Amino acid sequence: MGTKNICLLVLCLLFVIASIVDADTSPVTVKKIKGKKVCDQGWECKGWSEYCCNLTISQYFDYYQFENVFSKRNSPVAQAAGFWDFKSFIIASAIYQPLGFGTTGNKTTQMKEIAAFLAHIGSQTSCGYGVATGGPTAWGLCYNREMSPNQDYCDESYKYTYPCAPGADYYGRGALPIYWNYNYGYIGDCLHVDLLHHPEYIEQNATLAFQAAMFQWLTPLKKGQPSAHDAMVGNWKPTKNDTLSHRTPGFGLTMNILYGERVCGKGDIDDMNTIVTHYLYYLDLMGVGREEAGAHDVLTCAEQKVFNPAAPKKAASS
Ligand SMILES: *[C@@H]1O[C@H](CO)[C@@H](O)[C@H](O)[C@H]1NC(C)=O
Ligand SMILES: *[C@@H]1O[C@H](CO)[C@@H](O)[C@H](O)[C@H]1NC(C)=O
Ligand SMILES: *[C@@H]1O[C@H](CO)[C@@H](O)[C@H](O)[C@H]1NC(C)=O
Ligand SMILES: *[C@@H]1O[C@H](CO)[C@@H](O)[C@H](O)[C@H]1NC(C)=O
Repeated sequence: MGTKNICLLVLCLLFVIASIVDADTSPVTVKKIKGKKVCDQGWECKGWSEYCCNLTISQYFDYYQFENVFSKRNSPVAQAAGFWDFKSFIIASAIYQPLGFGTTGNKTTQMKEIAAFLAHIGSQTSCGYGVATGGPTAWGLCYNREMSPNQDYCDESYKYTYPCAPGADYYGRGALPIYWNYNYGYIGDCLHVDLLHHPEYIEQNATLAFQAAMFQWLTPLKKGQPSAHDAMVGNWKPTKNDTLSHRTPGFGLTMNILYGERVCGKGDIDDMNTIVTHYLYYLDLMGVGREEAGAHDVLTCAEQKVFNPAAPKKAASS
């Protein structure tokens, strides 16, 4: 799935949002294009895509499951109480479901991808460390921004492409937190939102924040590398080199792609295990069951060589 395709489809966003009438009336319309079966399911999965012939996300993941997975996010001590909600999640996904997000393969594969995506956003926004009741896995989506940034995340070497805007701060914001001027600039370009001048939009608009996270999930960091989505649903086939580097399709590889050497290739370290624990817990909550997670080398990246050694500071640089 190329960045260009995703950028183009983002253009459909306004149309998608404008055409939301009622979430519950989405009959499947089927037709054949060049012998291929393609479908349209109303606003949630629109645009004659083969993926829209499958279940949509809201057909297997509902409001109550979202509440279970992120059960503490609206508690009074949660930093972003009242911000994140199920509706924003589904509206955000409407651009990406026709591209295969949560709609690829059979129902188990679909649910595992959503559990994996949620595990990443939950673990990156949890405030449940230390003494909080329920442990870290109960506190996903507690934050929507970095609380005490100790730098301004302005990289001057991008001054010709993504120059820092006066007064703008590029600290971490969102569900898969975005850091640095060049990441805000690049993701903003693709979503057609001026995030370089207005990085604060991400902490003001949950739909946009989810969209930015989904964009990162679906976009390879570099040419020739898989996106986290491709790694998770089995679109990506390892080369001989990948196999020698212990890179196997699955949840472990999504961590390799999104975080690189921060968590991967260092054995069973806590930073990696916390993310894995979120995934297993969410699989249980969603009714898939952690036994579907796969063996240690699929589930973790403990032994994997990272795709991008000494890579950019955080995920999603162009
Ligand atoms: C779903 O698809 C996966 C991957 O192709 C396969 O391993 C699994 O057996 C399938 N599950 C069911 C219930 O068909
Ligand atoms: C749709 O679902 C079927 C069966 O559940 C699966 O075999 C197929 O690969 C899915 N379609 C796409 C485009 O992933
Ligand atoms: C929030 O973001 C979405 C997706 O980009 C956009 O459609 C919507 O208009 C935004 N809402 C506000 C209040 O700006
Ligand atoms: C395989 O890995 C070796 C050593 O890391 C590297 O030099 C070579 O370019 C890689 N080959 C491919 C096709 O990526």
